[in-house]
Amino acid sequence: MGLIVPAFFKPQVRAGRKVELDDKLCYCFHVSKRKVINHIRVHKPRVASQLSECGGAGTGCGWCVPFLKQCFVAATNDKDVEILLTAEEYEGQRADYRLAKNQ
Ligand code: FES
Repeated sequence: MGLIVPAFFKPQVRAGRKVELDDKLCYCFHVSKRKVINHIRVHKPRVASQLSECGGAGTGCGWCVPFLKQCFVAATNDKDVEILLTAEEYEGQRADYRLAKNQ
């Protein structure tokens, strides 16, 4: 499966904990990776944008949208969803993204 990499993605290789199921994918609406994957499994959205019905995921700052799309593609193809950022990088880059967006 090809990876979807957002334009603002900063590839860095650092030690850290990978994004686990109970980590948030959408920080704006506190939606975990587990919730997104379960939503896809149960509700079978036809397009990634329907993940907004999963607790509003992706409808805030927009940071998580590329990752939601990545989850959608992987989960609908019965693939594991792997985020290529550590949990700390994910949270940190989201904070940077919000700061840059508010300038
Ligand atoms: S982190 Fe998901 S919309 Fe902001």
